[in-house]
Amino acid sequence: MATQPAIEARELRKTYTTTRGVFRRERVERAALRGVDLKIAPGELFGLLGPNGAGKTTMVKIFTTLLLPTSGSALVLGLDAVKEQWALRKRIGFVFGGERGLYWRLSGLDNLRYFADLYRIPPAVSRRRIPELLERLGLLGRERDRVELYSRGMKQRLHLARGLLNDPDVLFLDEPTIGLDPVGARELRLIVRELADAGKTVFLTTHYMFEADAICDRIAVIRDGAIVAEGTPSSIKTLVQDQGIVEFEVVGMPVERLAGLRSLPGVTSVAISEHELAQVVTVHCARPAEVMTQLGVILDGIRLEKVSSREPTLEDAYVQLIGDSR
Ligand SMILES: Nc1ncnc2c1ncn2[C@@H]1O[C@H](COP(=O)(O)OP(=O)(O)OP(=O)(O)O)[C@@H](O)[C@H]1O
Ligand SMILES: [Mg+2]
Repeated sequence: MATQPAIEARELRKTYTTTRGVFRRERVERAALRGVDLKIAPGELFGLLGPNGAGKTTMVKIFTTLLLPTSGSALVLGLDAVKEQWALRKRIGFVFGGERGLYWRLSGLDNLRYFADLYRIPPAVSRRRIPELLERLGLLGRERDRVELYSRGMKQRLHLARGLLNDPDVLFLDEPTIGLDPVGARELRLIVRELADAGKTVFLTTHYMFEADAICDRIAVIRDGAIVAEGTPSSIKTLVQDQGIVEFEVVGMPVERLAGLRSLPGVTSVAISEHELAQVVTVHCARPAEVMTQLGVILDGIRLEKVSSREPTLEDAYVQLIGDSR
């Protein structure tokens, strides 16, 4: 990465210290981030994926200056999240999932006006920007309704509008689609993708592999405070390509033919199960496509039926990466 990363973590650690017990108070330490290194390029849409408690929100809070790291550094646009908090805040926007953070008795428009004031955005700028945001986020026409009358999807889009008031270069979204129905979630994802296409760097967290796959340029999987995989969605998928499975049915296959299958490169196991009329053969292998092309040769003269291969999905990759830490 020749240019300066838009977001960078160096050996980032966070250990929470809490106390437990009423009479004999006991200090408990919990490591939420265990030395994370990350670099995100300008304009990239980056997804941080991980199960509950993996450390996603902790990381977003540190980058957005809401929480101090225990050690290591967090930089946004080259600005240090601890030493240059104020300069950094001017350049970022953030949205945390959930329903808090808006004034429900006020209209969407008044909410945006209020926050624009709070963020000290010059009135001339906000008069132009607020209608633009309402339009872009599909809230135009409803801007004078009280927020309490908004659907969840509308509230979340208003949250996003609030996060964009200062026209930030970098946007942090902590589980932006939580609680939204599939249509609302999809709309929001499209908006987020558009923002990245328009040049903003976006850092989002999610529990959903398919969500990351749908819109992210690059993803990292975090588990128990450490990054366990990083790359494009398709490169993450190749991590489990050795989990491929080829399955087919045969009738009356001589057992010695199995040896030929077992000796194919990349085959890890061949299992055969007897069904009423046929035998079902299941081959676990590194490269299913290769095994499929060899089947005809090895099983020459035997009628194969229902040959299928299951490509590992991104979900398989994710489940393998996070193991049973859930
Ligand atoms: N204020 C806190 N005090 C003590 N421990 C905390 C605090 N906040 C988070 N933790 C712990 O730190 C770890 C990481 O939490 P974090 O909220 O960053 O996870 P997450 O990946 O965002 O999870 P989720 O998907 O559930 O939102 C968890 O073990 C959590 O219990
Ligand atoms: Mg979280």
